[in-house]
Amino acid sequence: MSEIPHGAPVAAIRIEGARKVYTVFPRAQRVAVDDVTLEVPQGAIHGLLGPNGAGKTTTLKMLLGLVRPAAGTFMVLGLDSRTRAGRAQLGFLPEQPYFPPQLTARQAMRLYARLSGVPEREIAARTTELLDRVGLEGRASTQLSAFSRGMLQRLGIAQAIVSRPKVVVLDEPASGLDPLGQRDVRNLMLQLRDEGATVLLSSHQLSEAEAVCDRVSIMSRGRVAAEGPIADLLSVAGRTTIRVGGLQALPQAVWGRAADVVQQGDLISFSVEDADVRAAIDGVYDAGGAVVEVEPKCESLEDYFTRMLADEKGEVA
Ligand SMILES: Nc1ncnc2c1ncn2[C@@H]1O[C@H](COP(=O)(O)OP(=O)(O)OP(=O)(O)O)[C@@H](O)[C@H]1O
Ligand SMILES: [Mg+2]
Repeated sequence: MSEIPHGAPVAAIRIEGARKVYTVFPRAQRVAVDDVTLEVPQGAIHGLLGPNGAGKTTTLKMLLGLVRPAAGTFMVLGLDSRTRAGRAQLGFLPEQPYFPPQLTARQAMRLYARLSGVPEREIAARTTELLDRVGLEGRASTQLSAFSRGMLQRLGIAQAIVSRPKVVVLDEPASGLDPLGQRDVRNLMLQLRDEGATVLLSSHQLSEAEAVCDRVSIMSRGRVAAEGPIADLLSVAGRTTIRVGGLQALPQAVWGRAADVVQQGDLISFSVEDADVRAAIDGVYDAGGAVVEVEPKCESLEDYFTRMLADEKGEVA
């Protein structure tokens, strides 16, 4: 583990005061990222969440040295990430990976291995290992012009980790993948973490972020609107969600206290004030039903974004 002089482990990623202003035709200025700060400890998986246009990709590209910032510091393992030495610590999956279409998957991987400095004698084995790891082992000899969107995405992920980087930055890794592919990518991120790597990903998907991220930063209009473990950010203080089975409808005694009632097949879910949990559970059993699950109420990420965007519109008005 890299150390700074006083002994505390250096952060894998530290972005401080990042700012980017794009000039858009003809002369307007658009602040895409405004004073973004985030720190990811070594060995963590950190999510950047936020609606379209929030500034996720721009933030990642500034870290990678692909977009010139107006201000900010960008560090990877204690090195300026925009220098050659810093950049060498990073693997990157861009939002829209592009590959030369005339190459086969194996040729492309060999090319990227060579470009990222993998020793010549290791390239063949590394290529095979990576194509296997992203589920493309049967497609090694296929020309990329014949690859589907999801297959290109898988190749992009293989390319991002070809040099065994200590820090992996993935811009929407689940994009274009079928459910099995999404699960594979989640598992891959967890494996990378187990191997000691640090992962920073951007995502729109609550399920992906919940399944893998230790913490998330939620971006909105170029700023970090909230930061922390996802469960804490989305929990709704004072309310509990209860799921029950074996009932056609909620009994009157429960109905009176319940909100957010949703019936799906044999299951009914609803929320109550924390103080009403016991009464609601008793009411369900008295009516012959069964309690399947009781958990603190969490807002969905969709609801969170909707509320966030509504608040912003309120601010502007
Ligand atoms: N090359 C560019 N020129 C001008 N404006 C840009 C450029 N790239 C991004 N922007 C603007 O910067 C803002 C942030 O865009 P960015 O791509 O970082 O968002 P994002 O959070 O990654 O969105 P998405 O979820 O859609 O990928 C948006 O308002 C966008 O229009
Ligand atoms: Mg983006």
